[in-house]
This record gives sequence, structure tokens and C-alpha cells, in this order.
Amino acid sequence: MKKNSITTLLIAVFLCLGQSLSAQNTVEVKLTKQEDAPQISKHIYGHFAEHLGRCIYDGFYVGEDSSIPNTNGVRNDIIEALKELQVPNLRWPGGCFADTYHWKDGIGPKEDRPTIVNQWWGGSTEDNSFGTHDFLNLCEALNAEPYLAANVGSGTVQEFAEWLQYVNHDGISPMAKLRRENGREKPWNVRIWGVGNEMWGCGGNMRPEYYADVYRKYATFMTDWTNSNALFRVASGANSEDYHWTEVLMRDIPKNLIDGVALHHYCVLDWGDKGPDKSFTDAQYFKIMQEAIKMDELITKHTAIMDKYDAEHEIALVVDEWGGWYDGEAKDKGVLYQQNTMRDAMIAGVTLNIFNNWADRVKVANLAQTVNVLQAVILTEGNKMLLTPTYHVMKMYNVHQDATLIPVSFTSPQYTLDGQSLPAVSISASYNEANEKHISLVNIDPTKEHTISIDVDALKIKNVSGMVLTSSDVHDYNSFDNPNKIAPVAFKDFKLKKGKLQITVPALSVVVLEAK
Ligand code: AHR
Repeated sequence: MKKNSITTLLIAVFLCLGQSLSAQNTVEVKLTKQEDAPQISKHIYGHFAEHLGRCIYDGFYVGEDSSIPNTNGVRNDIIEALKELQVPNLRWPGGCFADTYHWKDGIGPKEDRPTIVNQWWGGSTEDNSFGTHDFLNLCEALNAEPYLAANVGSGTVQEFAEWLQYVNHDGISPMAKLRRENGREKPWNVRIWGVGNEMWGCGGNMRPEYYADVYRKYATFMTDWTNSNALFRVASGANSEDYHWTEVLMRDIPKNLIDGVALHHYCVLDWGDKGPDKSFTDAQYFKIMQEAIKMDELITKHTAIMDKYDAEHEIALVVDEWGGWYDGEAKDKGVLYQQNTMRDAMIAGVTLNIFNNWADRVKVANLAQTVNVLQAVILTEGNKMLLTPTYHVMKMYNVHQDATLIPVSFTSPQYTLDGQSLPAVSISASYNEANEKHISLVNIDPTKEHTISIDVDALKIKNVSGMVLTSSDVHDYNSFDNPNKIAPVAFKDFKLKKGKLQITVPALSVVVLEAK
């Protein structure tokens, strides 16, 4: 063996030893408020509801005549659960469906509406009974801002501009008249608009250079010279690490025409074989965690590109699709129904910590999707409904909505499998207007607890309380027979002494602490 190789081997052994020792050691973290720290936009806690599988039909919407208790056809139990969740915004009608959707087919008397074939998701025929009024009224009931993704791929500028006028114009205009004829006097004032979806794929298979020009044209007719309606216009963004897409959009779209650039990233094993939703292996769990943690690298690199053109951070990064994507057990694979296990709770906790910590660039994000599709927060079966582990994590993290970030920097202990390792612990923290501090900690390691010592001296803390979401097996989930198997409980495994908060974060857990 050459001298260089021996040295490399010794360094590797040393590093491995160091890692296994540090996993048992206390990790030191210091929390200090910073004057110029950004606010964590509540909109990073957004959700997404597409016409896909059983998300809208037989999910949210069961119809006015259903025996399931509903308000204008939308299940009351879902409305209540989402109100509890404090959903800040809801994206609709897609996804890929958005660029096939013609909004005028979904207004007026339901019996007169034409049908639409859902070409991307199983080719089912929909009757358009859930349309613009149904969605926007639902958002009002939820106290959530609507985020409309408009059809660019198969629509026209006129169709888009008319939708805007229909939902937003308060004065006299043909579309405002039509809205009033359909029973709605006042506009809904929709602020957040997506200009197409995945324009590199189902939105039209465009090149970024071409889409940038298409975007400029659509954006021109959305509002006036100065965007006096204060619309938040989102350009369809990159697929994961397609940095060229972001570069071209930032370079070619004038800043006065754009408010956000999107990014989609799913935690997927392999697009050809996504692996099971429930009976995944340890290696598959590790890989999905790797994909979740990758969000940080993606935001870092997309932000670096955005910084070249927008050093002031006036344009937001909008992660309007994220979550885990597996092969569920439904016979019809087009419906994207999957079970939601503790693995998903880990994705949610890790991702939300990343978004919090990137508060100065990420201003909107949407988990895919709300009901019965992908990493859902709610699953339904007939008249039954359950809340998934992901629902509970999102709810626990609500405390960060619109709070001020407390920057965290620390070196995480490692979660190691088959010679590979990942940071086991992730943390984010914030304080709200009442000066309550919240610290979220996630330990993705399914077998080891970790002790974290947080120096909170500068925060002048007197009382601490907490909640934890955990389970003994990463494959655990809430089923219709046992819907409350996984739910948050009070957390007591911490000590506050002389300005130090020492916390033992259980294996496979999400902990949120409140400190006053
Ligand atoms: O969320 C499911 C699909 O994933 C969306 O329709 C599309 O935008 C993405 O590819």
C-alpha cells in the first residue's frame, strides 16, 4: 500500500470513530436573536389540491347530496381539520391538470357544465361540478388564501386575463357581470397566481428560453403598468436541480413582471420504481431522507443564481410542490394514493426546518397534496377520515407562521447506514410577537436518541413546554381502524439550567418546544 493510501485509510478510520463518538455526545447549539433576521412567511406552510385521483372528487368534494355531512358539497370534517391546521394558502387546480383546465367550464349551473377528461391522471371523465366558486368559497371557509395555477399550456392570454377579471374585478366589466349572474357579488381578490405549471414537462415541454418569453406575454396582461393590484405572479419553476431553468428565467424576465420563481422537488427513490409506501427497507428510508435533506442544497444553489439577478431578495423562491412520492397499493396507479408513515413525518419536519431557515428567500411552499394524494395530511375512506403523521407535524410547526427566525448553526450528529451518513438532527427556531420562542427539532435516526444542549442564555427563558410526535417503528401509520396511533403528546425530556436547555430528542421524532 502506498503512503498516501495509508494516510487516507487512517483519516477515514479516525473520522468514523469521531462520528460514532459524537453520536453519543451532547451537541452544543447557541440561539441568539438577530436584529436583521427575516420573518418566516406563513405561506411556506401552504397546501396543494389538484384534480387528481381522490383529492377533489371523493376527497374534499362529495357533492351537496352526499350523506356525508358537507357544506356546499365539501366535507365538513375536512373543513374543520384544515381550519385547525391554519392552512395559509391552497394551490389549485393543479399541477399538470392546471394546463388542461378551462375555468369557464366550471362555472354556472352544475347540470349545464361540460365534462373534462383528466388526461394526466388516469383519463377519468370529470363533470366540472367543483369549479372556481366552489374552490374560492372553500378558501374563504378555511380562511386560506387561494393560489390559482392558471392554464398557459393549452389556454390563451385572453382566457387567463378573463379569469383574473372574473375573480378580482369589483367594478363593471363583462366578467364581473358574469360572476354576479352566477351569484357572487363581491370579488374574491385572488393575489397569488401561477403562470402555468411545470412548463418544462406537462405544461408544454418548453425550453426555458421559450417559456420566459411566453411568461412575459402572460404577465403583461395580468395587471397594469405598476401591478397596482399587487398580484403575486409566480413563474413555473425548475424541476429539482435544473439550475439552467432558474438562470434563464431570472436573466430573461424583467423584475417588474415577476414576484416568485417556483421549484418542484419530490423525495423519490427512482421515477421508474418508487418503492412501497409502507413496507420500505432501511436503505430506502435512508435514500428518502437523503432526498429530503437535499432540499437545502437545492435552495442554496437556486438562491445563488437568483442572488446574481436579485441581490435584494425581492423575488421569492416558491417551492409549490414538495413531499414524498411512492408506489401506493391502489390498483389504479394514476390516482397516486399512498399511506403516510413516520417516514413522511420525518420528511415534513426536515423540510419545514429547511424552509424556516431559508426564510429570507423561500416565501411560499405547498405540500403535495392535501387529501388522498401523495404526502397527504388527510386520508378518507367512505365517510371515515383520518389525520396523518404529516398533518400533526404541520400543525405542531404552525407556531413559526409569520414569526421571526432565530438563526441556528450547529454540527449535527450523524445517522449512519451501510457506510453512508446523513445529519441526524435538524433544528429551526423563531420568536413571535408575544416574544414566545419556538424550537423545532427532528431526529431522523430510527434507532438512536440524541442529546442537544442549547445555549439559550441570550433569550432569557424561564418556562419551557413541548410536544413530541414519535413512534417505535418508522413504518407506523394511522389507519382507519387505528386512526390515532400516531399523535403528538406532551414532551418532558428536557432540563433548563443556567441558561442551557438540554434536550434528549428521541429516535425518530419531531419535537417542538415553546419557551417563554
Ligand atoms: O403532484 C403531482 C404532480 O407532480 C403534479 O401534477 C405535477 O405538477 C408534478 O409533476
